[in-house]
Amino acid sequence: MEKIKIIMDVDTGIDDAIAMCLALGNEKIDVLGFTTTFGNRRCEVTTKNTLKILELVGRTDVPVAAGATRPMVKEYNPPEYSIVHGYDGLGDMENPLPEPSITPVDKSAVQFMADTLRASDEPITLVPVGPMTNVASLILAHPELLPKIKEVVLMGGSTMQGNASPVAEANIIQDPEAAYILFRSGVKLRMAGLDATWKGYIGFDELENDFAKQNWLTETIYSMCGIYVEHYRERMKNPGIAMHDSLTLAWLVNPDIVQCRDYYVTVDINGRYTYGMTVTDVNNVLGKKPNASVALDVNRIEFIQMIKDAIANLAANKK
Ligand code: BDR
Ligand code: CA
Repeated sequence: MEKIKIIMDVDTGIDDAIAMCLALGNEKIDVLGFTTTFGNRRCEVTTKNTLKILELVGRTDVPVAAGATRPMVKEYNPPEYSIVHGYDGLGDMENPLPEPSITPVDKSAVQFMADTLRASDEPITLVPVGPMTNVASLILAHPELLPKIKEVVLMGGSTMQGNASPVAEANIIQDPEAAYILFRSGVKLRMAGLDATWKGYIGFDELENDFAKQNWLTETIYSMCGIYVEHYRERMKNPGIAMHDSLTLAWLVNPDIVQCRDYYVTVDINGRYTYGMTVTDVNNVLGKKPNASVALDVNRIEFIQMIKDAIANLAANKK
């Protein structure tokens, strides 16, 4: 079976960690490496979290390259405590994952992506699920490698509502200028934004009564999810915990799992109230050629099953 080769760019918080499990446990995906960025937490923390997850699932063979520590233009001053991911980004578990014994490779995220793209005979898919800083930096630094990027399947944005401002989604507003560069780059884009990712949730009861009981890894993930559950139950009033970052991978593996439309999308980098909004021309008012396939809905049952299957696979095959 021909696998889909990806480099995944993560700001490892809780849903990134679950998406890492999906990427590593799905037989159709070949993860060439993880690159890391600031976002949910500072980059040194998200890098450490990425290494911790690889150790947890026994995949220390996969390289990790540390990347952006701050956005391209704006300042980055994360609060000491994330109301979504906790202090440590992995839910401040009662029994935290051990400090990693492995280390990142000795090159930056951009260098790692560039070297991997250059060395590959076939184009590679990039899957950024944090701020777009690393991918935008790659595009600026290595325009000659654009043909080597098969597509970018990103978690970020939305056609209307936001979760970090009334209209902006967190990954985009953390570095709007980077996202702006990506959306105007001409690279093939799929945007897994909030329109669909909010609908791709594990219900609260389902999480407790089914998901958590599957195997040792789902139990660990469940204990990671306390703060995340509280956030979605109390503040977001969602029927469950949104698997934002995983949707990129599910869409890659099974395009039918997502309902999508092609739209022209740009990012507002000037607005007072709309800074960081992915402005989506749903009615083609601007008459521009669509530059992104935008996810609008997801087959939730199949999506969550795919996550469960991948985790079960990883749990059973831990080296
Ligand atoms: C995105 O923001 C982060 O908190 C999540 O990891 C996800 O990538 C959702 O808006
Ligand atoms: Ca993320």
